Amino acid sequence: MNKIIYLDAAASALKPNQVIAAEAGFMRKSYANAGRGVCARAVAVDDMVSHARARVANFINAKPNQIVFTSGATDGLNRVVNIVTGQSEYKKSATAAVSDLDHHSARLPWQELLCRGKIKKMFMCELDEIFDINSNKIPKTDFLIITAMSNVLGRAQDVKKIIAAARKKNLNVITIVDASQYVVHKKIDVKKWDCDFMVFSGHKIGADTGVGILYIRNPEKYFPDKFGGGMVMSVSKDNFVLNDAPEKWEAGTLPLTQIAGLIPAIDYLEKNRPNLDLIKYAYDELSKLPRVKILTKRDAAILSFVVDGMHPLDVGAMLGAYDICVRAGNMCASWIHQRLKIAGSIRISVGSWNKVADIKKFLSVIKKILR
Ligand code: ALA
Repeated sequence: MNKIIYLDAAASALKPNQVIAAEAGFMRKSYANAGRGVCARAVAVDDMVSHARARVANFINAKPNQIVFTSGATDGLNRVVNIVTGQSEYKKSATAAVSDLDHHSARLPWQELLCRGKIKKMFMCELDEIFDINSNKIPKTDFLIITAMSNVLGRAQDVKKIIAAARKKNLNVITIVDASQYVVHKKIDVKKWDCDFMVFSGHKIGADTGVGILYIRNPEKYFPDKFGGGMVMSVSKDNFVLNDAPEKWEAGTLPLTQIAGLIPAIDYLEKNRPNLDLIKYAYDELSKLPRVKILTKRDAAILSFVVDGMHPLDVGAMLGAYDICVRAGNMCASWIHQRLKIAGSIRISVGSWNKVADIKKFLSVIKKILR
């Protein structure tokens, strides 16, 4: 019997049987490439990809041609930077605004542009006293990066309000939403948000690693960032004609097996969102331990904490020695930790597989560690 207690859903979710069966079935019985064959089997793979795209579109209230398959959220966030800076009208005098809630993947690509002089300035969005993005103080900027839910603090940001505030300052602001944690807990509506780009990873919603979603509001407006394969309609000696979206965004073979797991993952997630009462229970019990300082709110989607006198990595390793998997360290979110004046933290996060007994076991072990 597998006695591991997996409290690390926010790093990567365990996979529902339906996802595993869909991927195994695809590899065993239906495998072929997509967009390249004319035999019935290859056409069936094209259909599978189209259905998955339509399901993702429906999941976030978008149109199928606005959905681009990537290899994950990091890939999507880097691609957005390459897309917007690759347009002929792009000017190095552009500005971007980020926040201390950002994951490295959301902010580093912009920081790197700044280092190379490819943007003029990087503004910081102000956070309020509970570390929400303050929509009253959004800077006037050309690009705005919004982390819809911090992977350390687990609070849903009011993305619609933030974007509306940014557009009041600059009607043409390009908004980029990192919804990697948000998507697990809340319904995304890209139309309501009014964002230009949005990304998330498949692996956090119970699908496989190696597949992610990039939503592009105006997929025909931009020139693509990657070239090859079926993203062109025709080629001549010196030139080429692009295909329409989404094909023009998907150079090369797609992660087909992972795409086969997307529909069952979304179907499963919509019926089995993580039970956040488990987080509240853990919060109430951990609050009683004098050496524990909780960083998150009781109603957050995750629980992050530090232990007085112990390094977070030591706490994480000790929990691991008792077969309890948590995330510990800076969680690729250095800026919020720097702001809290700590090197890192310990995080528990739950998925549909977790039961109250898992939290009880975690609590009994942490008490042992603190003794
Ligand atoms: N970004 C993921 C996490 O928060 C990996 O753990």
